Amino acid sequence: MGDSCSAFLPLLLLLLSASLVASDSIQDSFYKCLSVNSQISFPLSTSFFTPNISAFTSILQSSAQNLRCLVPSVPKPELIFTPLNESHVQAAVICSKQLGIQLRVRSGGHDYEGLSYMSQVETPFVVVDLSKLRSIDVDIEDNSSWVQAGATVGEVYYRISEKSKTHGFPAGLCTSLGIGGHITGGAYGSMMRRYGLGADNVLDARIVDANGRILDRESMGEDLFWAIRGGGGASFGIILSWKLKLVPVPATVTVFTVPKTLEQGATKILYKWQQVADKLDEDLFIRVIINVASAAAKGERTVQTSYNALFLGGVDRLLKVMSESFPELGLQRKDCTEMSWIESVLYIAGYPSSTPPAVLLQGKSLFKNFFKAKSDFVREPIPETGLEGLWKRLLEEESPLMIWNPYGGMMSKIPESEIPFPHRNGTLFKIQYLTSWQDADKDIAAKHIDWIRRLYNYMASYVSLFPRTAYVNYRDLDLGMNKDGRNTSFIQASGWGNKYFKNNFNRLGF
Ligand SMILES: Cc1cc2nc3c(=O)[nH]c(=O)nc-3n(C[C@H](O)[C@H](O)[C@H](O)COP(=O)(O)OP(=O)(O)OC[C@H]3O[C@@H](n4cnc5c(N)ncnc54)[C@H](O)[C@@H]3O)c2cc1C
Ligand SMILES: *[C@@H]1O[C@H](CO)[C@@H](O)[C@H](O)[C@H]1NC(C)=O
Ligand SMILES: *[C@@H]1O[C@H](CO)[C@@H](O)[C@H](O)[C@H]1NC(C)=O
Ligand SMILES: *[C@@H]1O[C@H](CO)[C@@H](O)[C@H](O)[C@H]1NC(C)=O
Ligand SMILES: *[C@@H]1O[C@H](CO)[C@@H](O)[C@H](O)[C@H]1NC(C)=O
Ligand SMILES: *[C@@H]1O[C@H](CO)[C@@H](O)[C@H](O)[C@H]1NC(C)=O
Repeated sequence: MGDSCSAFLPLLLLLLSASLVASDSIQDSFYKCLSVNSQISFPLSTSFFTPNISAFTSILQSSAQNLRCLVPSVPKPELIFTPLNESHVQAAVICSKQLGIQLRVRSGGHDYEGLSYMSQVETPFVVVDLSKLRSIDVDIEDNSSWVQAGATVGEVYYRISEKSKTHGFPAGLCTSLGIGGHITGGAYGSMMRRYGLGADNVLDARIVDANGRILDRESMGEDLFWAIRGGGGASFGIILSWKLKLVPVPATVTVFTVPKTLEQGATKILYKWQQVADKLDEDLFIRVIINVASAAAKGERTVQTSYNALFLGGVDRLLKVMSESFPELGLQRKDCTEMSWIESVLYIAGYPSSTPPAVLLQGKSLFKNFFKAKSDFVREPIPETGLEGLWKRLLEEESPLMIWNPYGGMMSKIPESEIPFPHRNGTLFKIQYLTSWQDADKDIAAKHIDWIRRLYNYMASYVSLFPRTAYVNYRDLDLGMNKDGRNTSFIQASGWGNKYFKNNFNRLGF
């Protein structure tokens, strides 16, 4: 892929040779450079934040989702720049290159390892935060929408629903995700079995490349356009906006959540779910949220598996599908609620019922905590004995969470090499493992991280191996990273590249 894949290499190499203008601070030099290179002047007080001003910390924290990546020992940026116009983004790229300073890009701040606002190494860096570039232009006649990178997926869903009750977009379940970073890794949600990923439904994009040029699909070429749809955030330039292909949704959809504890036969039902979840009617998406809850017996804990579903149709057809394909769950009419698609977005995201959809325009996340997560893909059902060992481990941890996400349907029909996201036909479901806590203490963090690593080792016998695969949007630095943040060879990078991208890593890397 020559040019496009090494897009950021010239910038990185330059880092080593360029030296800062000795007399000025990084902040002052950057500011002067931005002023010279922006076509439009920007107001200092609302777009340029240095650590010596009080707003700096609140801007840094604003969309940062993992509190683990904000603790004092983690390196902080030299400054945060919030562009108000595309030309400001171009200037930021030109200036970071000129001044030899690393640049981090943030859209929605949900990176699992905080890579959009922190650094693993003590190298000065600036954060370009796109939160002020969030316009959304929906064209119902054309079934499409141009969306700027800083918009959240919730805002996108809301703006679509404002114009049509029968259009939607198949991306993430969590409504505070930034569309900019989200689609760079794939972007799955409750319509993936029907329509595939967000990245499968992108028509065009505008990016700023390493030389500060703005390119669209036509000017970047199909190779780079392939790479940015799932090849991972921050690798191929800065996404300014995506053009999304809207999909049809019925005026009435149905949702349900049915919990089953161990005492209610959770193990057997989950064993059955593994055999049917990827083969169900494509309009039906049933994920399983697994946590530890208090048991009926006082003071005891149990494992709870919650079947959380969206059906693209009415309750009558849903009950028929369920009694034919998954009667073991015992779904009843009273468990189901019919609603509009946009209401189902709020339901699946976990908003209290009757929250008005306009809440999505706030672009805020519902919660934040300290967390560590990992992922796996599964191609053979996990036997009941395997599940029992899993329950034992979950019960040892304070706040463990797993989410099992069904595949099949459209996910199986799209070839592995269509976009960089490779987890397609043959995948039954994806597992996300997560543990969260509420304390900045580093020994507490270490204890939980150790627990999840041991759980991951235990699961090795039950999941897809050679390579053991992972979802790049659930970034996991345990799988490896650039050692000095700079010059990593293709062979070294294959260590984790093959896990996230399988054979597509070859095309991404050359
Ligand atoms: C609570 C929670 C729920 C989630 N739910 C889902 C889900 O339902 N489905 C799913 O698929 N994923 C989900 N994810 C994962 C999510 O897709 C990724 O974390 C995604 O990268 C978030 O994008 P962002 O813009 O919010 O994050 P950011 O932290 O801003 O960015 C993530 C990465 O992309 C880079 N990046 C950001 N903006 C740009 C840009 N404009 N151009 C180029 N690179 C950029 C960043 O530098 C960083 O490396 C969830 C994550 C969290 C924390
Ligand atoms: C903060 O630091 C910048 C960069 O060094 C400097 O230009 C600015 O005057 C300082 N502002 C305040 C309020 O101290
Ligand atoms: C950026 O500024 C130019 C010139 O003023 C304007 O035409 C354009 O619409 C602006 N773009 C954004 C994204 O604000
Ligand atoms: C938009 O989608 C609808 C429903 O799928 C379809 O009937 C229509 O032809 C599409 N319009 C365009 C311009 O593609
Ligand atoms: C998926 O794989 C199965 C078995 O490996 C095969 O029978 C089937 O045809 C494949 N489906 C598609 C759509 O490629
Ligand atoms: C990066 O690695 C390549 C290949 O190992 C080497 O040729 C090059 O000089 C290195 N560049 C820097 C800046 O270290």
